[in-house]
Amino acid sequence: MSISIRPFDGNFGAEVIGFDFETNGNEDTFQLLRDAWVEHAVICIRHQKIEPEFFLKLAKIFGEPIPQLINHKAFALPSHPVISVLSSGHVDTLGSGKPINRGGSWHSDHSNTPQPPSGTILHACQLPSQGGNTRFTNQTLAYENLSSDMKKKIEGLKAKHVYQSKYSTRKMPTRSKVDEAISPTSFHPIARTHPVTGRKAIYLNPVRTETIEGMNETDAQVLLDELLAHSAQDEFQYSHEWKSDDVLLWDNRQTMHMAAADSHLYDRERRMHRLMIKGDTPF
Ligand code: OGA
Ligand code: MN
Repeated sequence: MSISIRPFDGNFGAEVIGFDFETNGNEDTFQLLRDAWVEHAVICIRHQKIEPEFFLKLAKIFGEPIPQLINHKAFALPSHPVISVLSSGHVDTLGSGKPINRGGSWHSDHSNTPQPPSGTILHACQLPSQGGNTRFTNQTLAYENLSSDMKKKIEGLKAKHVYQSKYSTRKMPTRSKVDEAISPTSFHPIARTHPVTGRKAIYLNPVRTETIEGMNETDAQVLLDELLAHSAQDEFQYSHEWKSDDVLLWDNRQTMHMAAADSHLYDRERRMHRLMIKGDTPF
């Protein structure tokens, strides 16, 4: 049996139906999966009862798994440290000791690195019965709906991405001194070209962007805020309502995402396993 791809009802994203490593895990299927990921920006493969080894095998269809920025044991799976664990029970152990809401505002993963991950994959290990959606924006659609004046204005501009922008409304987990010392800062184009489709997308990360090359910080923040407000319009959003054993893969080169900030609704721990795929230098 071959797989089929069913677009979600929302503005973008798609569900993959019929994928099974045993019966159709061949190169043709893998190529269909890669194409669907790039075409739909977010894809969901349901009913994956996956062990860490299998999760790694699945991720490798899309590229090389890379470690997360924070080398903190609390956020990694002990048997497979390349797999991160995102738990609603996590606290900022190296800092305030208070609960941390990882991913709880619009962002794009690890954008302060010179080659941010092309994709991120989450496996829903345990879900609360209410709340806990992950929301996405389609930054290609957002770019294509900019005015031509705005397209001209951002052409060639590069934003400075740091571990945590001083303008961020969300606090990132406190890091060890070792992690702080290796923390990269990168400059990336705001109008980013997708290496596969050649289409442009608005590349933003309000948690990490501090300024724009050649601009004063105040003007840069005004422009970045304007681009964020434009990108986060309902018509460019998809909100993923998780089912147990969903595997969700998104394309960081053309989306932003955030965990819905509604953990007050949870009746049990929300726990995800995460893998990231090596990316290229944005251009
Ligand atoms: C992530 C992330 C959001 C969520 O894994 O990078 O931002 O809903 N997750 O858990
Ligand atoms: Mn994230």
